Amino acid sequence: MKEDRLIVALDLVEAKKAVQLAELLSPYVTTFKVGWQLFLSGGQKIVEALREKGEIFLDLKLYDIPFQISKAVEVLSRLDLRFLTISLFGGSQMVKEAVKAAENFSFNRLLLLGVTILTSLEEADLRSMGIKNSTEESVLRLAKIGIEAGLKGLVASPREARIIKNNLAPGVIVVTPGLRLTGEKHSDQKRVSTVHEALEAGADFLVVGRPITAAPDPLEKLKLYLEEISRWQT
Ligand code: C5P
Repeated sequence: MKEDRLIVALDLVEAKKAVQLAELLSPYVTTFKVGWQLFLSGGQKIVEALREKGEIFLDLKLYDIPFQISKAVEVLSRLDLRFLTISLFGGSQMVKEAVKAAENFSFNRLLLLGVTILTSLEEADLRSMGIKNSTEESVLRLAKIGIEAGLKGLVASPREARIIKNNLAPGVIVVTPGLRLTGEKHSDQKRVSTVHEALEAGADFLVVGRPITAAPDPLEKLKLYLEEISRWQT
C-alpha cells in the first residue's frame, strides 16, 4: 500500500528528471511536492505531467496583497492540486481571501497550508528581522492568524507541531519539512528533526526533499524513510 504521510519534495530544476523520479517513487507514495525551482522551469505543464503520477502539493508560499492572492488561488485551482502553501506573513485578510478562493474554485478539494517560519531560519535570523519573540512564540502567533482566518492546515517544523496542536487547534493538519534520518546531512535546514520526533509531535504529513532527491539511489533512500515510519507504528 502507498504511504500517504510521506511527501517527496521534487526539488529539481529539470522537469524530465522530476517526472522520472516521480515515476520511480509513485508505487510507494501518493503525493509529490513541487517547489519554486521545478515550477519555474516546468510551469503548469510539469504539474499536469506529475498529476498522472500522483497528487500534487504546490509549494509556492504565496505572499502578496489579498486581491492578487485570491486570483492566484483561483488560477491554481485549475491544476487539481491537493495542497497549496501561502505565507502567513501575508496577514489575516490575505489568508481569508485565499481560503474563500479555494472554497469557491476548487470546491473544497484544495487544502491550503499556511507557512509559519521556514525551517531554515533560527532565532538569530528572527532577531535580525526585528522579531523579538522566540521561534515558538512567532510560529504560534502566525498559526493563530491562519486558523482564525479559516485555514485547516499549516506547515511547521516538527518541534512546533506539538505546541500548535496542544495550544491552538488539536484538529489542524500539520505538515512538517526539515526531516532527516539520524546522521544525515542537515544542508541549510536549522530546525531539523527525525521521522519519529515528527510523528510523536503529531505531524500529519512529512516532507522530505534532498535526502531522497540527491541520494545515489533515491528509491533505496525512500524505503529507509518508509521503514522509519512503519517502525513508529509498531
Ligand atoms: O531538502 P529538504 O528535505 O531540506 O527540503 C524540505 C522541503 O520543504 C523544501 O522543498 C522546502 O521548500 C520545504 N519547506 C521548508 N520549510 C518550510 C516550508 C517548506 O523547508 N517552512
